[in-house]
Amino acid sequence: MKYSKVMNLLIVVIVVVLGIVGDCYGDLSELQDGYYRESCCQAEEIVRNVTWQYVGANPAMAAKLLRLHFHDCFVRGAEASILLNSTANNTAEKDAFPNLSLGGFYIIDAIKTALEAACPGIVSCADIVALAARDAVSYQFNYSLWEVQTGRKDGNVSLASEVLAELPSPAMNFTQLQQSFANKSLSVRDLVVLSGGHAIGVAQCVFFGNRVYNFDGNGNPDPTLNPNYVAYLKTICKGEFDFTTEVPMVPGSGLIFNNTYYTNLENNEGIFTSDAALLTDNYAKSIVNEMGRTWAFFYDFGQSMRRMGTVGVLTGNQGVIRKQCALNNS
Ligand code: HEM
Ligand SMILES: *[C@@H]1O[C@H](CO)[C@@H](O)[C@H](O)[C@H]1NC(C)=O
Ligand SMILES: *[C@@H]1O[C@H](CO)[C@@H](O)[C@H](O)[C@H]1NC(C)=O
Ligand SMILES: *[C@@H]1O[C@H](CO)[C@@H](O)[C@H](O)[C@H]1NC(C)=O
Ligand SMILES: *[C@@H]1O[C@H](CO)[C@@H](O)[C@H](O)[C@H]1NC(C)=O
Ligand SMILES: *[C@@H]1O[C@H](CO)[C@@H](O)[C@H](O)[C@H]1NC(C)=O
Ligand SMILES: *[C@@H]1O[C@H](CO)[C@@H](O)[C@H](O)[C@H]1NC(C)=O
Ligand SMILES: *[C@@H]1O[C@H](CO)[C@@H](O)[C@H](O)[C@H]1NC(C)=O
Ligand SMILES: *[C@@H]1O[C@H](CO)[C@@H](O)[C@H](O)[C@H]1NC(C)=O
Ligand SMILES: *[C@@H]1O[C@H](CO)[C@@H](O)[C@H](O)[C@H]1NC(C)=O
Repeated sequence: MKYSKVMNLLIVVIVVVLGIVGDCYGDLSELQDGYYRESCCQAEEIVRNVTWQYVGANPAMAAKLLRLHFHDCFVRGAEASILLNSTANNTAEKDAFPNLSLGGFYIIDAIKTALEAACPGIVSCADIVALAARDAVSYQFNYSLWEVQTGRKDGNVSLASEVLAELPSPAMNFTQLQQSFANKSLSVRDLVVLSGGHAIGVAQCVFFGNRVYNFDGNGNPDPTLNPNYVAYLKTICKGEFDFTTEVPMVPGSGLIFNNTYYTNLENNEGIFTSDAALLTDNYAKSIVNEMGRTWAFFYDFGQSMRRMGTVGVLTGNQGVIRKQCALNNS
C-alpha cells in the first residue's frame, strides 16, 4: 500500500473510533437519552420504583405529576422552578393563582431523597420531574411509554408573577393556544396531542363554571357544550364560582390514560374552553379525530412530551443540581 493510502486508512480508523467513543459517552453538555448511564446507572430505575410505589398507592397522583412537568416547562423552561418554595421575600410559581390543584411535591421529594442516598449531587430536580411524569403515566401499562431525555440542570429563580403570562389559560381560544405553544416552539400537533393529558386528573369547577352556569351573562350554558354534559356538570359544581369542588376530567374516571379524551371532545364534552377550542380549527380538529380513532395517541403523546421537555432547559454549566428540590442551594 502507498504511504498516503495507509494514512487515509489510519485517519478513517481514528475518526470511527472517536465517533464510537463519542457516542458511548455522549456530550454531557446536551440533553440526551440516558444521561445518567455512567454517573448514576440506577437513576431511572430509582425514579420509576418510587413513582410507581406512590402512584400505585394513590392513582390520582399520576395526573399531578404529569401536570407538574407541564407547568415546569412552560414557566422559565424545564428547570424545576415549579418546585421552589416561596421565601420571606419571594412568592414562588407554586403559590401563583393557577396552582389550585398542583400536587405531588412530596413524591418528588421522596424520589430526590432516594437518589441522593444512591448518587449524591448527581441527578437534577428538573430531570426528576420529567422522569416522574413519564413514569406516572406509564404505571398503568407496566412499561415506559417513552424515553425521557435527561441532562437538565436546575434553575434558582421562581416567580409567581410570571405564571399567568406563560401558562395557557383554560379560557383561551384556538389562536391564543396556538400562540402560547408556538412561544415554546411547540406545534399545533403538539398542542392537540398534549391536550390529551386531560384524559387523567381533575378540574376545579371555577375553571369552567361560566360554561355551565353563565356563558352569556344571562345564566345560559356554553352552546357548544353537549347538554347532557352540562346536566352532569351541574350535578357536581355548585355554581359559577365554585372554588372547592372538583370534577374528573373524564366523567366517571379520570384515572385511566387513554384516547377517550378525544372521542369525548368530539362529542362536545371537552371540559375547558381551551379543550373545545381544538374543534374550532380544521387542522386541529383533524388531529383530534385521528387521535380518537387510532392508537397513534400513545406514541405521539410520548414524542410531544419529549419536545415539551426540551423547552428552556439549562444544560452543562448552566444551572446547578439542587440538594433539595424545594430550596436553592445555599
Ligand atoms: C393546552 C393548554 C392547557 C390548559 C389551558 C390547561 C388547563 C388546565 C386547568 C385549568 C386544569 C385544572 C386545574 C385545577 O383545577 O386546579 C388542568 C388540569 C390538568 N392538566 Fe392541563 N392545561 C393545558 C395543557 C395541559 C398539558 C400540555 C398537560 C400535560 C401534558 C396537562 C395536564 C393536566 C393534568 C394531568 C391535569 C389534572 C391535574 C390534577 O388532577 O390535579 N394540561 N389543566
Ligand atoms: C426497583 O424495584 C424492583 C422491584 O421491586 C427491585 O427488584 C429493584 O431492586 C428496585 N431497584 C432499585 C434501584 O431500587
Ligand atoms: C416547602 O413547602 C412545603 C409546603 O409549605 C413544606 O411542606 C416543605 O417542608 C417545604 N420544603 C422545604 C425543604 O422547606
Ligand atoms: C431575600 O432575603 C434574604 C434575607 O432574608 C436575603 O439574604 C436575600 O438576598 C434576599 N433575596 C432577594 C432576591 O432579595
Ligand atoms: C397555592 O397558592 C396559595 C397562595 O396563593 C398557597 O396558600 C397554597 O399553598 C398553594 N398551593 C400549593 C399546592 O402550593
Ligand atoms: C410488569 O413487568 C415486569 C417486567 O416486564 C413483569 O415481571 C411483571 O410481572 C409485570 N407486572 C404485572 C403486574 O404485569
Ligand atoms: C381570540 O381571542 C383574542 C383575545 O381575546 C381575540 O383578539 C381574537 O379575535 C380571538 N380569536 C378568535 C378566532 O376568536
Ligand atoms: C408569548 O410570549 C410573549 C413573550 O414572552 C408574551 O408576552 C406573550 O404573552 C406570549 N403569548 C402567549 C399567547 O402566551
Ligand atoms: C378509556 O378510559 C375510560 C375511563 O377513563 C374508559 O371508560 C374507556 O372505556 C377507555 N377506553 C378505551 C378505548 O379503552
Ligand atoms: C442563580 O443562578 C445564576 C446563574 O447560574 C447565578 O449567576 C446567580 O448567582 C444565582 N443566584 C443565587 C441567589 O444563587
